[in-house]
Amino acid sequence: MPDTGPLPSTDKPLSRLDDLALFGAPPLFGTPRHVNRPQAPERAVFDALMDDVWQRRWFTNDGPLVQELERRLSDWLDVPHAVLTCNATIALDLVMQGLGIEGEVLLPSYTFISTAHMLTLRGLTPVFCEVGPDMLLDPEDCAARITPRTGAVVATHVWGSPCDIDGLQALCDEAGIPLIFDAAHAFGGRYKEHRIGRFGAAEIFSLHATKAFHACEGGLVTTCDGDLAARLRLTRNFGFSGSDRVECAGINAKMSELHAAMGLCNLDVFEQTRAAARAIHAGYRDGLAGVAGITLKCPAPEEDNNHHYVVCEIDESALGLSRDALLSVLSAENVFARRYFFPGGHRSPPHLARTEASGLSLPRTDAFCGRVLLLPGGSAAQPDEVARICTLIRFAAAQAEAIRDRL
Ligand SMILES: Cc1ncc(COP(=O)(O)O)c(C=O)c1O
Repeated sequence: MPDTGPLPSTDKPLSRLDDLALFGAPPLFGTPRHVNRPQAPERAVFDALMDDVWQRRWFTNDGPLVQELERRLSDWLDVPHAVLTCNATIALDLVMQGLGIEGEVLLPSYTFISTAHMLTLRGLTPVFCEVGPDMLLDPEDCAARITPRTGAVVATHVWGSPCDIDGLQALCDEAGIPLIFDAAHAFGGRYKEHRIGRFGAAEIFSLHATKAFHACEGGLVTTCDGDLAARLRLTRNFGFSGSDRVECAGINAKMSELHAAMGLCNLDVFEQTRAAARAIHAGYRDGLAGVAGITLKCPAPEEDNNHHYVVCEIDESALGLSRDALLSVLSAENVFARRYFFPGGHRSPPHLARTEASGLSLPRTDAFCGRVLLLPGGSAAQPDEVARICTLIRFAAAQAEAIRDRL
């Protein structure tokens, strides 16, 4: 996404149905408002790191910035090993290889599709499980799907909220299988007395540009298992342990110095980023208070959530508009809200074919996929745009019946 600088907006009245862009009026915003516009650190700080990189001509292959970022992340997350990779999807592949996982892998259907795809590409069988009312993998449903073929469980801390880690660990211990966490959303979060990052056999963070803490592109595996960390360091670099010594099959999953520099800059300002995102989230909480049919997900204080995601559940009967109708109203105004994780892993090709063949039914997942809407949030959102988006939503709610009639 190009740096658009301060985003201009068009002010317009919202008093009649014809004021909506959906019905022909100019949009509320002159440029698109996206969910999780990337955080950008001070350019001068990044440039200073780039000067050093240019001086060294050491652009990739376990460079000093990658090593520094790994050290700092391991300290910050209070976990013995932090291994950086090119992205989280490939990191999951390395972890599966590193743990020698075979057969079936249990995962929530209500998560980003990359997990199911990666497992499939590695020759594993994703087994989709149901989530609880908190949108997180339901340990009971998971337990019911464990068989002798089950090789591992991959659970996601969706929207940065921690899973029932103790419950999932207990059932994995009983089954004798590893538990891996997809912590793509959960940087900075906490479960009981520890930061997310030291649970299960490994936790995997995405450092994609749209994440709360990012390196433009990148992945991070954190683990207390030194042997696994050593294997990941081999396999992210073609299996090389020396300049011409190959230990095992590996891939190119390295992080470059440029990406590590972005990560270092963003780590320095993470608490400011989190505070800005929390203020944006609070703006939505105030702006949407009392709108019947819209429930904003508000993380519990003890989660220490990064507040990067503004997640709403739409109750069509109470709002008078379906989630998708509201999405159309917003998109026309250049507010690019998103449905997540629509339509759910078990309903997405190529996994849909197995769902249909097996008759798999995940009603709670289907319900979330049908009613969750993400609004533009995170630290790069602006308080005044939050106020305008809330005003727009309140107007749409007040005019719900008339909008429905005209759609
Ligand atoms: C929950 C979840 N898991 C995994 C990923 C994949 O991360 P990456 O893009 O770094 O491969 C994402 C990315 O958006 C995600 O949201």
